[in-house]
Amino acid sequence: MRLLVTGGAGFIGSNFVRYVVQHAPDVQITVLDKLTYAGNRANLAGLPADRVRLVVGDVADAALVDRLVRASDAVMHLAAESHNDRSLVDPQPFIDTNIVGTYTLLEAVRRYDVRFHQVSTDEVYGDLPLRTDTDQSAHDAVFTAQSRYQPSSPYSASKAAADLLVRAWVHSFGIRATISNCSNNYGPYQHVEKFIPRAITNILTGRRPVLYGDGRNVRDWIHVADHVAALWLILQRGEVGQTYLVGAHCERSNRSVLAAILRAMGRPADDFVTVKDRPGHDRRYALDNSALVRDLGWQPQHRNFDQGLAATIDWYRTHTSWWQAGKAAVEAAYGQH
Ligand code: NAD
Ligand code: DAU
Repeated sequence: MRLLVTGGAGFIGSNFVRYVVQHAPDVQITVLDKLTYAGNRANLAGLPADRVRLVVGDVADAALVDRLVRASDAVMHLAAESHNDRSLVDPQPFIDTNIVGTYTLLEAVRRYDVRFHQVSTDEVYGDLPLRTDTDQSAHDAVFTAQSRYQPSSPYSASKAAADLLVRAWVHSFGIRATISNCSNNYGPYQHVEKFIPRAITNILTGRRPVLYGDGRNVRDWIHVADHVAALWLILQRGEVGQTYLVGAHCERSNRSVLAAILRAMGRPADDFVTVKDRPGHDRRYALDNSALVRDLGWQPQHRNFDQGLAATIDWYRTHTSWWQAGKAAVEAAYGQH
């Protein structure tokens, strides 16, 4: 199989490429990546050159995309602007990459009848109420593949728009596409702008980690290795036109995640700063993963969040050269919002 992986030099994309190289010896991979601030050649270091090649370019470049899609059997589409905080400062690249880029790929897969998978987010569904002791409906609420799209941020709105394009291209043009909506990933190679790596690398550089608002917001964490295994399964065995929700039933408040990081890194429990909340900050995400489990037999392997977190902390400890150069600039940019 000739597989085109967009965004393959990013966090999830590079974990996906490594997974496929390990598990599917007959797959040739072309990575199309613009190498934005979030993409990094080093994420693909050490992979066999005869199996993986990197093309530096834009998913919204129609001529380039046409050429690469024509020479592929399948496309795993991960390229995106992925950070909510950035989308609140400058939404333009989110429109260009996430919406126009996806449209560009869809037109190419339509022309050449190439199998397509859209990697998306649970954030397209908006947010859920926080659980309380008294409100059973809040307790039971989770997103399902039938939940209504009601995104809150420019980032999630751009991903929702892209997903809807995919659904329409399946419906109107019969393209062979699937969509997955995954919850919050953590693990190696995640950019230090994101909550968990930011907190870890703040501590490693003598800064205090940062908690937004009251810290009661809940995210449903999944190890990136479990997400990429699901993506490979869906690409091979998923039913065209289906949406699969990818989550590992690991809801944690931000406050409790930060407490676990501080504990694991030997810092006092109160050694963090609180800043004003992210505008429009979604309260809670949680996913019903039953279609993926029932129909495709997927099961998360990294079920112990504390162990996964400890391994992630170790990874950032032992890979300082991977993140150190960009760290100060990320923190300086945060300082300006
Ligand atoms: P990331 O920001 O780490 O990586 C994105 C990659 O896309 C980078 O390598 C970047 O250079 C590349 N890219 C950006 N614009 C591009 C363009 N115009 N053309 C080509 N390449 C471009 O993001 P991530 O966290 O790895 O997320 C990957 C995908 O998974 C995204 O579609 C995101 O919406 C989705 N997702 C992420 C999470 C999560 O928790 N990180 C959860 C669910 C879904
Ligand atoms: O739910 C899936 C989404 O998860 C993906 O679609 C996005 O690409 C990915 O970035 C992530 O979005 P979040 O906005 O949830 O991730 P982030 O790491 O930015 O923040 C996680 C939570 O932590 C969120 O509630 C905001 C909070 N936060 C974040 C940072 C950076 C803090 O409290 N302090 C911080 O320093």
